[in-house]
Amino acid sequence: MPHLHLESFHPIALPCVEGDVAFDFMATSRGEWKESLIATRYKDREFFILHKKSGEKDLLKSDKITRPSPNFLVKHTLLAYAKCSNSTILASNVDTAGENVHLKTHDALKSVDFFADNFPSGQEIRLEVGFGSARHLLHQAITNPDVLFIGLEIHKPSIEQALKQITIQNLTNIMILDYDARLFLEFVPSNSLSRIYVHFPVPWDKKPHRRVIGDSFVDEAIRTLEIQGRLELRTDSENYYRFALETYSHPPYVSFEVHKNRDIAITSKYEDRWKKMEKNIYDVTLINDLQSPEKILEGDFVFTETGIHDGILPTLERQLFRREWGFLHAEASFDIREGGWMVRLAMGSFDRPEHLYLIVQNGQARYFPSLPVRSSPNLKAHLLLNELLHG
Ligand SMILES: C[S@@+](CC[C@H](N)C(=O)[O-])C[C@H]1O[C@@H](n2cnc3c(N)ncnc32)[C@H](O)[C@@H]1O
Repeated sequence: MPHLHLESFHPIALPCVEGDVAFDFMATSRGEWKESLIATRYKDREFFILHKKSGEKDLLKSDKITRPSPNFLVKHTLLAYAKCSNSTILASNVDTAGENVHLKTHDALKSVDFFADNFPSGQEIRLEVGFGSARHLLHQAITNPDVLFIGLEIHKPSIEQALKQITIQNLTNIMILDYDARLFLEFVPSNSLSRIYVHFPVPWDKKPHRRVIGDSFVDEAIRTLEIQGRLELRTDSENYYRFALETYSHPPYVSFEVHKNRDIAITSKYEDRWKKMEKNIYDVTLINDLQSPEKILEGDFVFTETGIHDGILPTLERQLFRREWGFLHAEASFDIREGGWMVRLAMGSFDRPEHLYLIVQNGQARYFPSLPVRSSPNLKAHLLLNELLHG
């Protein structure tokens, strides 16, 4: 992580501009443990840089929640602040190399906002959940060049490996997303997928509630699959196979197929391992028979116009509000030197919480650095927050 060790930290008068970087305001944590966040703008990006004391050292680095990428941005803005404040740099791991214009983020790697804002359409779409080594995903994409494949994974090394292969093999019909499959289906329009592959999911025999496949996943799979669309589970776990059969039996509008030890065109690392151990492999495929209505997510992230008074802050500070849809946690609070206050929030679903800031200045609230992802737990957390802010 890029950082500067300064001889001493000089808070400067804000707002202030240094070249192409603007510093807007400074927020300092309330309570004993002090850190200051400096709101920073570079072109159309907003984020915080962070000052904190580490023993006797004054460190300037990026804030984890709002950290921009590539790293060049962090380095560039840290050096801009040091220059602006006339600070002496004692030590640094920051080089002064310019922006590498060739260093682009990988085209295939998408953010969840990409899907939430404008889900792809106009071609057949298949989804693979937990693609692991990506052997199956790559094989399918190569053999079906007209189909768009969306690969979901939460294991970063697997994502990097898949992106590398996508580049080497020059594939343009795969989109990769680092996101929990149990939450992703919410962003998928109804009747839009032809297949959902779930191959060798973690069995979670002792914690079945953590399995990818469960009642709400199956309901969402039925909604998002087109008619005759297939949810394909392949597993070596007898427990998972029985569990899936039972789960698939609940919804009225589906049929399903079961196969034992059926060969498919490509085997994954897991499959090779289980076959060597002479384990049985089960396929349980749900076939959707239902045309589903479009899912409408009610609400937005607008705050009520009526002014928010400063007496609200103590009622929020460090409070955790748990609800059946998820939670809202005011993790830390800050005073803004130029007027107003700020709260670091975690909110939304327990499985994939959103981390961001709430800024209140002149009685008006806004999220920083951007709005939460438009998911139903986030919209509900926003409603709760808006209610709390207005007493
Ligand atoms: C046992 S591996 C199987 C990988 C691959 N499908 C195969 O057959 O080799 C399960 C994979 O699912 C991923 N995974 C687990 N839970 C997930 C979730 N909720 N959403 C997306 N991926 C998940 C894990 O990171 C892991 O890579």
